Amino acid sequence: MKEFVSDVVTIVESPINGFSVEAINGDFQGKDFVSIEQLTSRSEIDRIFEVAEEMEKIVESKKTGDLLKDTTLVEIFYQPSTRTFTSFKAAALWLGCQRVIAEHGMAAYSSTVKGESLPDTIMSLEQTTACDVIVMRHPEDNSAFEAAHFASVPIISGGSGKLEHPTQAVLDLHTIQRCLGRIEGLKVAMLGDLRYGRTVKSLSKLLALVDKDTQLSFVSPEVLKMPESEVSSLESRGLSVYETEDLIEVLPEVDVLYVTRLQKEWFEDQGQLDLYYELEGQYRIDREVMEHAREDMIVMHPLPRVREIAYHVDDDPRSAYFTQMRSGLTTRMALLSLITGKV
Ligand code: NCD
Repeated sequence: MKEFVSDVVTIVESPINGFSVEAINGDFQGKDFVSIEQLTSRSEIDRIFEVAEEMEKIVESKKTGDLLKDTTLVEIFYQPSTRTFTSFKAAALWLGCQRVIAEHGMAAYSSTVKGESLPDTIMSLEQTTACDVIVMRHPEDNSAFEAAHFASVPIISGGSGKLEHPTQAVLDLHTIQRCLGRIEGLKVAMLGDLRYGRTVKSLSKLLALVDKDTQLSFVSPEVLKMPESEVSSLESRGLSVYETEDLIEVLPEVDVLYVTRLQKEWFEDQGQLDLYYELEGQYRIDREVMEHAREDMIVMHPLPRVREIAYHVDDDPRSAYFTQMRSGLTTRMALLSLITGKV
C-alpha cells in the first residue's frame, strides 16, 4: 500500500473512483506518475526537460550511464505497444539498469488469465522482483490509479485505458519545444479519434498547464468528439477550445497538427466495428492537405499510424512524428531518474 512521501500532501484523485496519488509539487522522488494532472507548475516541466537534455548527451555519447545501476525496474504491458514499451526499457538500459524485468504479454500470459486481480499482481511483483519502480500499460481507465494505490513503489503509467498517457504528453511537449523552440502561444489542432484516444486528453491538459492562451482546436467526426467532461475541464482552466469536423477550416492557422488513429480496439469492444469502417479514411493527411498548412508548422502523431498520414508526408520537413520518439527515450530516462531520486 502506498505511503505518501511529502509532509504536506496535495492529492490528485482518480476521476473514476476514490483512488488518489500525490501531486508532484516540485519533487518527483518517490511519486507515482499516472496522471498529467499531477504536474502542477511550469518549473516541473522545465526540470524534466533539463534532465532530458543531460540524457540526450548520454545517448549521443553511446556510453551507458550508471544512474540506475542499482535500480530494479518492472515493466508490465497489458496492451500492445512498440514505442512506449521499447523506449522505457531502453531508457532503463541506457542508464545502466541491470535488473529490468520487462513483460509485454501480461494480458495473455500472466495469472490475469486465471482471474488474478491487478492489486494482487502488483503486490506479487513487488515480492518476486524486489523492484523499485513499476511501469505499466493497462486497458482499464482507472488501472494506474489502482496500481498506485496498492503498490508501495512508484507506478508510472505507460497508458491507461482511454483516459491518460502522461509520459506521452511529456514527450509530445518536448518535441514541440525541440521543433518550434517554444511551448507558449501555440495554436494546436488535434485530429481524429478524440473520444477513445488517450494521448490527446493528456496533452491538452498539459498544454493548458503551460499556457492558458494556447488555442486548441479539436477536429473529429461528431461521434468521436472529445468527451464533454474533458472540454469543460479544459475550459475551466481558462483554455479556449474550438470544435469542428472541418480540418481545412483550422489547418492554415496551426503551429501543430496532432494526428491520431481511430482506436479500432475500442470500437470492437463496443460492438461498433461497422462504425469504425464507416469513419476510417475520413481524414487523411497527404500532400494536398499539407498545402493548406503553414511552412513553419509541424505534424505530430503518437503512432502507430494506420492510414491517416500518407507515407509521402514523411519526406515533408514539417513531419515530426519520427523525431517525436527520440524525445520519448530521453524524457523517460529523465522521469525514471527523477522518480527514483537519482537526480
Ligand atoms: C498511443 C497509445 O498507446 O495511446 N501510442 C503510443 O503510446 N505511442 C496511441 C495509439 O495507440 O493510437
